[in-house]
Amino acid sequence: MIEVKNLVKVYSTKKNKVIGVDNVSLTIKNGEIFGIVGYSGAGKSTLLRCLNLLERPTSGQVIIDGVDLTTLNKKELRQARLKIGMIFQHFHLVSSKTVFENVAFALKAAKKSKDEIEKRVNELLEMVGLSDKRDAYPSQLSGGQKQRVGIARALANEPTVLLCDEATSALDPSTTKSILALLKKINRELGITIVLITHEMEVVKDICDRIAVMQDGKVIELGTVYDIFTNPKEELTKSFINSVLQFDLPDHLLKKRTGTIVKIQFKGEIAEEAIVSDMLQTFKVKGNILHGKIEYIQDMPLGIFVMELTGDPDEIQRAIDYISLRTNGLEVIASAA
Ligand SMILES: Nc1ncnc2c1ncn2[C@@H]1O[C@H](COP(=O)(O)OP(=O)(O)O)[C@@H](O)[C@H]1O
Ligand SMILES: [Mg+2]
Repeated sequence: MIEVKNLVKVYSTKKNKVIGVDNVSLTIKNGEIFGIVGYSGAGKSTLLRCLNLLERPTSGQVIIDGVDLTTLNKKELRQARLKIGMIFQHFHLVSSKTVFENVAFALKAAKKSKDEIEKRVNELLEMVGLSDKRDAYPSQLSGGQKQRVGIARALANEPTVLLCDEATSALDPSTTKSILALLKKINRELGITIVLITHEMEVVKDICDRIAVMQDGKVIELGTVYDIFTNPKEELTKSFINSVLQFDLPDHLLKKRTGTIVKIQFKGEIAEEAIVSDMLQTFKVKGNILHGKIEYIQDMPLGIFVMELTGDPDEIQRAIDYISLRTNGLEVIASAA
């Protein structure tokens, strides 16, 4: 378990002080994939780098499996860090070394024997699907392959935690998917806790169990991915989610409509119920679906429909009340003209 308590990181530059992380407290459970999302400058990297003390917090604690890292001496910290792997957006491979040597480097640092290193590197390359690239140099690899080397190197010393700083942000969408699938496999098969920071909501939607949303150094919202996607509280979170789910209707489409336009959200089981058709049968209103889809988040359905309702205003209001009661979200986007 990773416990972050009242973590503050202030950067003092010649001119002024910049707050990187502003009093963050959170707990990351063993074996979960925890995402941290936020725009550039929100403090994500600073927070992540504080988790292995690459960055020393100005105040606060980082406690991993009961050990407060901020109290360790240099040697103890070096030992503790071996159990925390890290991967980066730009991979940070040594260009003059082969794939094998890049991965072996982490094991040499841990003072492993030559035979052990040989065996372990081969195992790791097999796991990330790069056995045939053993003797290649980074310049001969694609971005996705480079990140696989980064992952193999990060896992070399059998860490319990893997920190990922925008690990897919330099990759195209299909390579991103394959790297995320690899991270998920590592999490499920090896039980490694993964902390992943990203500015892309799509990334957390696919693999995270829980996420924290950061803004100005603070965590402004935290919850399971499903709860955050189906019931976001903060404006920033809503805008992040909208960027993924894309349910906004184009303005010109909205202007042409004369009825009442509602957005209806169905969560979990009720996504499959025929609430809309019940409503249309019960009330004297006409419904015209403008937009709709069912997304699967953590394998649970989230349905969203945008409908135009026309008819008697009182009936429309009753229909709206009916749906509001039975779903977990009805938002009137535009009232009848
Ligand atoms: N080494 C540094 N010196 C001074 N300010 C920094 C340093 N690193 C980060 N910052 C500042 O801290 C804030 C958070 O940065 P960062 O953690 O990199 O955000 P993110 O990863 O979310 O983009 C920003 O205002 C950034 O300019
Ligand atoms: Mg960053």
